[in-house]
Amino acid sequence: MDEQQTLDLGTVIILGTMGMIILAMGVVVFFFIYQRRMIAKQNELTMLELQHQKELMGAVIQTKELEQRRIALELHDDVGSTLTAIKFSVSSFTIGDKDKELLNNNLADAIQKVRRISNDLLPSILEELGLITAVKSLIKTLNDNKTVNYVFESFGEQIRHPKDVELACYRVLQELLNNILKYAHATEVRVEIVLSQSGLVVIVTDDGDGFVPEDHTNHERPSLGLKNIESRIQQIKGEITYEKRLPKGTKVLIDWKRHE
Ligand SMILES: Nc1ncnc2c1ncn2[C@@H]1O[C@H](COP(=O)(O)OP(=O)(O)OP(=O)(O)O)[C@@H](O)[C@H]1O
Ligand SMILES: [Mg+2]
Repeated sequence: MDEQQTLDLGTVIILGTMGMIILAMGVVVFFFIYQRRMIAKQNELTMLELQHQKELMGAVIQTKELEQRRIALELHDDVGSTLTAIKFSVSSFTIGDKDKELLNNNLADAIQKVRRISNDLLPSILEELGLITAVKSLIKTLNDNKTVNYVFESFGEQIRHPKDVELACYRVLQELLNNILKYAHATEVRVEIVLSQSGLVVIVTDDGDGFVPEDHTNHERPSLGLKNIESRIQQIKGEITYEKRLPKGTKVLIDWKRHE
């Protein structure tokens, strides 16, 4: 009888220990799964936050572009035409030739400035004549600066791509060229555009210090240029790559494919 009781007690202890081990293992497995779920949830939240930030940035750029368009049209149509009207009426004034000439020159200067500002805000040439003509004109203006030599070449077919694609490429190009002027210490910059039915490629090469955005992620001064570039390219579903060239310089390639 005693022997039977000892056996039962032994079985109870073994079963109890096994139960506790299984319980402990269950708790460990539960915590493991719980932790993995939490990490997955956290990753999902971070992704959503990033996505939201990107969408916000896209919306900011779009709003800015609309506002620039409004100001540009108002400057051109309102201020520009008022100045032109004044210029014409001046010719009928009975004032000395010297005064008339001075007034005329000042007015012509003001008209040109209004045109330039309006064109910076909304490159009308881009909408009317397309990316190639607009970039040609931009390069021509930049070549007035004698420290850097800008060369432009275009290849392929003479076709137009959607307005938002042309505008995005133009704005990105403006920022890239502006950055080169500010930071690269380059002497020669080449801009090449290849147009085809299936898309477009823009290549900017310079012989400056060499640069990739990864080198500037921890920049102390908050800057928008590179972030805007990324956002604009993302909006048109394009790709942009930066490459340091040897022995010096940078090559930036923008690739956009028509998605039908
Ligand atoms: N072509 C380049 N050559 C060398 N460094 C560059 C070049 N382009 C950008 N950088 C570096 O990357 C940083 C970030 O560029 P980004 O265009 O975002 O800012 P920014 O031009 O300084 O300011 P913002 O564009 O907002 O007016 C610059 O401050 C500069 O240090
Ligand atoms: Mg910049």
